[in-house]
Amino acid sequence: MSKGIGRARRLVLNAAAKVNLILEVLGKRDDGYHELVTVMQAVDLSDRITLEDADVLELASSPGVPADGRNLALRAAMALREAAGVTRGARITLDKRIPVAAGLGGGSTDAAAVLAGLNRLWGVRWPAERLEELAVELGMDVPFFLRGGAALGTGRGERLTEIPSAVLGLVLVNPRFPVSTAETYGRVTPAMYSDGRRARTMAEALARRGAGRVAASLYNGLEPAARQGYPQIAQMEAALMAAGALGAMMSGSGPTVFGVARSWEQARQIRGRVARGAWECWAVRTLRGPAIRIRAGGA
Ligand code: C5P
Repeated sequence: MSKGIGRARRLVLNAAAKVNLILEVLGKRDDGYHELVTVMQAVDLSDRITLEDADVLELASSPGVPADGRNLALRAAMALREAAGVTRGARITLDKRIPVAAGLGGGSTDAAAVLAGLNRLWGVRWPAERLEELAVELGMDVPFFLRGGAALGTGRGERLTEIPSAVLGLVLVNPRFPVSTAETYGRVTPAMYSDGRRARTMAEALARRGAGRVAASLYNGLEPAARQGYPQIAQMEAALMAAGALGAMMSGSGPTVFGVARSWEQARQIRGRVARGAWECWAVRTLRGPAIRIRAGGA
């Protein structure tokens, strides 16, 4: 193993969450997935990931998060190691801040961070396009996190076009229980399908950087499916609106909901009003730059 210049032995990364400002379900595909049009937006609620060079591949995670092959971050490491023919291992430490199975892409952003970080730590040096090909095999949200900012996603959500993004203050509210993505999609009926046109309206709202326009354009076709099982979703949205949010919507397959604020200061006020024992709340800013950031590296 070379210890040459440019080969770090330890990296610390930030892996940001996302919200879906738009999620339209167009229909069911022959492969069992749903055809989507979505606008994904990175936000500054992040997990912290440490990668250290090691002989074997191993993962340590926060309590309650599986550390075996069910963990997408470990699967990402195994996939890159095999695809790039690497014989090294790595010690991966996940410090989770993003709630698990929450509709915020927490597992997917960890997987993207592991791909980007090990690409560097192991000296693989694959270009972004090749990492994206591997990313999509791990989950449809994973390629988005290799980019960040805001993006339009089509197909199963994995075909991405970058769109201009605005810095907005949002409030995230999570009911402290997980919801399976497959379960929410399993409740979708054709009555919940839409034609994909709302995404264009959202892209225009983001380009004009108006929180009011963004709030008025929010849409999630999965929300009726998730509401059937979880009345808390409507309650959390009502609480955000009562606290002054310009608009509120569920993110991804839920159960986290988010409210759009007029400003960062107002986002913090809303967070203060909505925070209760049963719910976890964050005031966050949207990110115009990368979702994965290397915070520190060491030789
Ligand atoms: O891609 P990911 O692993 O996150 O998807 C989890 C599950 O969500 C899939 O197994 C599928 O049931 C559902 N899904 C879907 N259509 C999509 C994305 C996900 O039906 N476009």
